[in-house]
Amino acid sequence: KSLHPFFPLELVDTIEKDLIIIGSGLAGLRAAIEAARVSKGKISIGVISKVQVMRSHSVSAEGGTAAVLYEDEGDSLESHIYDTIRGSDFLADQDAVEVLCKYAPLEIYQLEHWGMPWSRRKDGRIAQRAFGGYDFPRATFAGDKVGFFEMQTLYDTALKFDNIEFYNEWFATSLIIEDGIRGLTAIDIPHGDFYTFKTKACIIATGGAGRLYSFSTYGHSSTPDGLDMAYRAKIPLKDMEFVQFHPTGLVPSGILITEGARGDGGILINKEKERFMKRYAPKKLDLAPRDIVSRAMITEIEQGRGFESYGIKHLMLDLTHLGEEKIKQNLAGIREIALKFAGIDPISEPIPVKPVCHYMMGGIDCDIRGRTLIKGLWVAGEAACISVHGANRLGANSTSECLVWGRITGEEAALYSMKKGYEDLPKEKVLEEEKRIYDGIFRGSGKENPYEIREEVNKVMDEHCYIFRKEDSLTEGIRKIRELYNRSWKHVDDKDKEYNTNFINVLELDSMIRIAEAILVSAYNRRESRGAHYRLDYPYRDDEKYLKHTLCYYSEDGPKISYSPVKLIKYKPEVRVY
Ligand code: FUM
Repeated sequence: KSLHPFFPLELVDTIEKDLIIIGSGLAGLRAAIEAARVSKGKISIGVISKVQVMRSHSVSAEGGTAAVLYEDEGDSLESHIYDTIRGSDFLADQDAVEVLCKYAPLEIYQLEHWGMPWSRRKDGRIAQRAFGGYDFPRATFAGDKVGFFEMQTLYDTALKFDNIEFYNEWFATSLIIEDGIRGLTAIDIPHGDFYTFKTKACIIATGGAGRLYSFSTYGHSSTPDGLDMAYRAKIPLKDMEFVQFHPTGLVPSGILITEGARGDGGILINKEKERFMKRYAPKKLDLAPRDIVSRAMITEIEQGRGFESYGIKHLMLDLTHLGEEKIKQNLAGIREIALKFAGIDPISEPIPVKPVCHYMMGGIDCDIRGRTLIKGLWVAGEAACISVHGANRLGANSTSECLVWGRITGEEAALYSMKKGYEDLPKEKVLEEEKRIYDGIFRGSGKENPYEIREEVNKVMDEHCYIFRKEDSLTEGIRKIRELYNRSWKHVDDKDKEYNTNFINVLELDSMIRIAEAILVSAYNRRESRGAHYRLDYPYRDDEKYLKHTLCYYSEDGPKISYSPVKLIKYKPEVRVY
């Protein structure tokens, strides 16, 4: 065991990779495979992940991947495009939505060729189920373990390429940029050593940051490290106020109960045994988009028609009428989850559920090809805001997005890196980063317990930036977050070198506070209600003032907000009625 004798800088090892992908979820793996394919083995690819690959949060995706497979049975690309744009409350960039819908079917077949065990219909064709907000059942599924099987398929495929190297349990800390991307810094968690990576191109695919909330479907590793890396590098974060709350988080843990359960016929009921969605979305009922269903659920609870278990107010998801066979065949995963984590068997009892933090529509600003404003730096998957989901994502469209833009960015970044030479890492920037994390955090001091501060961050987000928001509450949330930032939590009490998760947790907290502030400030500045962002004090959508993307820039004095136009092509904003 040793303390961290990292100075002088010459002792820091540098690893050279032509392309670095940060994140090993669906987008990261898909990008790695495409880069390996198009470069025909001519470039070296490093995939850095703070967890083991199969512990990436994508593994938890349950219900489906949206794609138009059955034009012969009435589906169409135009319908997928329109559903997605309407679902987004007209904030999605329509050119990007077209790309998503056009390429998603190819990804379904590509995965099939790589071994994906899609569920089948009786006629042998790939099965699809209904999902919220769509006019056609186009969520392609593999039971209710879509993410697990997709990840396994992609990981198996990636392992066949000699030029992809995985750095599992490595924590990337900062991008090194000078006239474009030059590299990054990272900690090898098992050994505790600090490294620099030199690279020609980089893709950030680090997923979302749902662990900013306490009731969350996300894995505990889903903290905003990747978002923050870009934010600190002065790349704007786009539309961060749009946080998705999925209607059916299992009470009390928050684990996802897939929308596929409602797609397959499950219904939401209140204490009066009423199928209350008929009052909020008379046509689509339980399969209205998530923003609408989640608001309806909170309204039911607030009006006294909820249940209460474990001290949590909730509603019930009833699958009992689906029958044992269907539940065992299509929904085996959530049955097991309900049994193990709530002692409920959905075959015979309704499941207690409550809206739960599930997705971030916002992310790192990029263009339709996933390019950021930094030369040589792309983003893909949930970490990116392209924007295909606008103010509210439709279920099953995010795994599609990961696959489609994993492929696009993987190809682009590989071709770019093949034409480029390495450039030196600017030493002063590496030194600056080393000081930031080792002097500023690892060797810091203070009385506050960082884990308690992390809980406080959750509390602020739960209380001030949940489904219904209001100016005075957002102002108070911003004040509290700034107060938390200034408390003395920047220290690491565990001085061990190997597997120092205390160190990693404090680094995560550092990024959580900054990104929480970015979300709160973006939400404060959008004085309208659109998609998942509902302002009690501005309950209507205001296209005249706010049909635009929020851009949130990092500055030492706090986030700076500006806006950029939405790309409208064919569909003008209209009232959303479901
Ligand atoms: O409910 C679900 O299975 C979630 C799917 C999604 O968020 O895309």
